[in-house]
Amino acid sequence: MEQIRSIKGTRDILPTEALQWQEIEEIIHDFMELHGYGEIRTPAFEQTNLFTRGVGAETDIVSKEMYSWVDQGGESLTLKPELTAPVVRSFIQHNLAGKSPINRLYYIDSLFRRERPQKGRQRQFHQFGIEAFGSPYPEQDAEVIAIAYKIWSVFGIEEITLHLNSIGSPEIRPEYLRVLRETLTPHADKFCHTCNNRLKTNALRVFDCKSESCQYLLDEHAPMIIDHITSEDREHFDRVCELLDGMGIAYRLNKKMVRGLDYYTRTTFEITSPVLGAQNSLCGGGRYDRLVEQLGGKTTPAIGFAAGIERLLLALSKKEALQENPIADIYMVTLGDASLIRSLSIADDLRREKGLRVIVETLRRSLKSQMREANRCGANYAVILGDNELEKQVALVKNMKDGEQLAIPLDKLEEAFSISTEHHHPADES
Ligand code: HAM
Repeated sequence: MEQIRSIKGTRDILPTEALQWQEIEEIIHDFMELHGYGEIRTPAFEQTNLFTRGVGAETDIVSKEMYSWVDQGGESLTLKPELTAPVVRSFIQHNLAGKSPINRLYYIDSLFRRERPQKGRQRQFHQFGIEAFGSPYPEQDAEVIAIAYKIWSVFGIEEITLHLNSIGSPEIRPEYLRVLRETLTPHADKFCHTCNNRLKTNALRVFDCKSESCQYLLDEHAPMIIDHITSEDREHFDRVCELLDGMGIAYRLNKKMVRGLDYYTRTTFEITSPVLGAQNSLCGGGRYDRLVEQLGGKTTPAIGFAAGIERLLLALSKKEALQENPIADIYMVTLGDASLIRSLSIADDLRREKGLRVIVETLRRSLKSQMREANRCGANYAVILGDNELEKQVALVKNMKDGEQLAIPLDKLEEAFSISTEHHHPADES
């Protein structure tokens, strides 16, 4: 029979790898809570027009990459391709603005974009990110950018570059786009087909083009949006830079970085890492002062960012060969029926009383293969209980690191492992 396989661009995360995901998620939860951010979880799918209206109909995400369908009730639905629009929808729906003038939210979630899969780019992928609603001031930008910047060193990733730009207030957009169109149209035949269309429909999106020749043409001819922002926008941007300087956060002005989603206003930023290769963006974000209003809420300034967890894992795997994660502290080697019954209850006691991860043999293997299994699980100790031991009411406790073996009375076993309830802790490591 033909084997059913996972969909292209999606991946299973198997137990040893899942442990690494759990660690990463724990770091994110802790880090966000340290900064006063509360977790928000939104549904996997939304009405399609949340994204067409929120992210923008001409963006790559909406025009090419959404998983949309019409359900049995005739409604157009979409698997979420990003989280800012859903979080804004939820912010409005639950009137969070009415409950507090400032709302700091974070998320860890699965997203869906029908992109061409490659290293660091999937069709189902994961992001963590934050959205801060309520403050129009540069200190809010600085707070969000600082969180996006600092979290990488907690993961042990030091080689990063922060790119910063301002695309100004929406008021300057029509005039800037006019100038942009006017300057680029004489070269239109040299741009790719998509960019040609973009020049007519949403000219800012030409900056998103991945083609080298289009990027070259932009370098040669395009006016830069930051050179067209208002003096208030400039002041805001300068203050953001000052605050980042004050925090010792290094950044690079990147005038071409307008970000591929329509909702941005003023500050935009991205963090890249050279260890990632072609898909070098670890995270991206910016201010979106008009989105809440655009989606039907009261005008509320906001800023946020999102980071790709698969990209983080890729950066970590470049740093050091991933270690196999141990899944057990203790492996109970069982030899026969009586040994099995006793081992099962000892295992339960050690889990409950000592918080130790204990696995009991269930394959009736030879002593030798059970010891091999104990190693494979990364157990620090094997507890061996044979007929001889049962008769003497002891267990042989073997230290898997140094091979040392001790006979410990069964009623002293818990005590022997009582130094710490932390994982991987044995009695004699004190
Ligand atoms: P974005 O730039 O589309 O922004 O995505 C943010 C990050 O998600 C990227 O820097 C990358 O690390 C990761 N990412 C994006 N697409 C993929 C993919 N196909 N496979 C793996 N990783 C991917 C946003 O999504 C905005 N909502 C960010 C934001 C929040 N702006 C304001 N608040």
